[in-house]
Amino acid sequence: MKIIVGVTGASGSIYGARFLEVLHEAYPEVESHLVVSRAGRRVLLHETDYDVRDLARWAGAVHSETDIGAEPASGSAGFDAMVIVPCSVKTLGLIASGTGDTLVGRAADVILKEGRRLVLVVREMPLSAIHLENMLKLSRLGVMILPASPGFYFYPKTMADLVDHVVGKTLNALGLEQNLFEKWRGQAPARPASSVLPEEGEGGAESVN
Ligand SMILES: Cc1cc2nc3c(=O)[nH]c(=O)nc-3n(C[C@H](O)[C@H](O)[C@H](O)COP(=O)(O)O)c2cc1C
Repeated sequence: MKIIVGVTGASGSIYGARFLEVLHEAYPEVESHLVVSRAGRRVLLHETDYDVRDLARWAGAVHSETDIGAEPASGSAGFDAMVIVPCSVKTLGLIASGTGDTLVGRAADVILKEGRRLVLVVREMPLSAIHLENMLKLSRLGVMILPASPGFYFYPKTMADLVDHVVGKTLNALGLEQNLFEKWRGQAPARPASSVLPEEGEGGAESVN
């Protein structure tokens, strides 16, 4: 499998870093090509202890954002998929408008026209109608919009658990099996309501013991 990994200037650079680390450690069969946007570099330095050289160590190849002649810029290079993690709403808009004037935008445009898998780990809060419309437009074209919003139903203890939930979901979106979080095996049977709520006439919760 040959994939492009874009890291853009949305908050959550740690998702991109961890994704590349896991890909490097657990999926030697995946050839990864990394493109970090200018803003992506800036946010990475602001939010983490990593710089782009650290990310490059986990990638098979690294391309400059301005190198629109690099391998990911052409459909004939044969990439299977692209993931942008994290994906800013600026890059989201760029892709939705089909104006790939950077390597990240061009590569995503190519993936779309070639009918390959595109996964966008979008991060912004709140979202405007423009952002939502862009997401809907791309979703209808088969793009997977994977908001960087970890779940809490698996009882995360650390920030690393939360990061791994998003990264695990991203790996799944690319069709890669992962064990960063446990598969949901069905909820334990709920306790009967009567065991947690006071019966009518019993008063408030304080009086139950
Ligand atoms: C510290 C920091 C955090 C940011 N967080 C976000 C964010 O969460 N989502 C977002 O869409 N843009 C965010 N931005 C703004 C983007 O970096 C900016 O729109 C940039 O132009 C995106 O360019 P790119 O998509 O080419 O990386 C942030 C910027 C900075 C400096």
